[in-house]
Amino acid sequence: MAESDRARWNARYGSAKQGPPRSDGHPGGEPRRFLVAAEGELAAPAPGARALDLACGPGLEACWLAERGFTVDAVDIADVGLARAAAAAAEAGLGDRVHLVAADLDDGLPAELLGRRYAVVWAGHFRGNAVEQAVREAAVPGALLVTTRLSVVGREPALAGGGGGPDPAFLAAPGELVELAERCGLTVLRHQEGDGEAALLARCP
Ligand SMILES: C[S@@+](CC[C@H](N)C(=O)[O-])C[C@H]1O[C@@H](n2cnc3c(N)ncnc32)[C@H](O)[C@@H]1O
Repeated sequence: MAESDRARWNARYGSAKQGPPRSDGHPGGEPRRFLVAAEGELAAPAPGARALDLACGPGLEACWLAERGFTVDAVDIADVGLARAAAAAAEAGLGDRVHLVAADLDDGLPAELLGRRYAVVWAGHFRGNAVEQAVREAAVPGALLVTTRLSVVGREPALAGGGGGPDPAFLAAPGELVELAERCGLTVLRHQEGDGEAALLARCP
């Protein structure tokens, strides 16, 4: 599964298109709106504070977090996406603050990141178990989880699992992110579900 994901995403990132289609309206070139809208909750990071970007793709959000003062570890399986992230970080003068890691998150957090602690865990349009692992094992007290994923809620029935839509395995069930927050003891600051997308902003205990 992960190897086919890698090939599929590499093909997408290597195509003439600017990147994966953005269901939140951004065709690429701008970070996801839900993360940007959480800026008020991101306290000015203490020196050395780290953020984790799971399934970072072309690195727009990793760069956005680095611009706000975080040192960012950004993980993805697709090396073509990571190459684009490296170029974006270098172009923005953020190469020293965005650390890119090629890894299959289906195997959990990469070994080289174990022991690191994060003030922010961000996962945009990614539904892997590594999100919950990061919250449980790698978040500092009071850390923020900001995450979005495709959802069955409000999705056109024809696209809910067939008809050329995403693999049903990528679609969150109704309430899935709130359940994740409850399991992990998080305080939900914002949750939205609709138009085929779910999003959560929550604070760790
Ligand atoms: C929809 S894109 C999201 C990219 C970016 N986070 C965003 O919000 O636009 C999904 C990303 O997940 C990555 N991915 C899929 N399966 C993965 C896995 N098992 N391990 C690591 N990355 C994976 C893909 O390479 C792709 O970059």
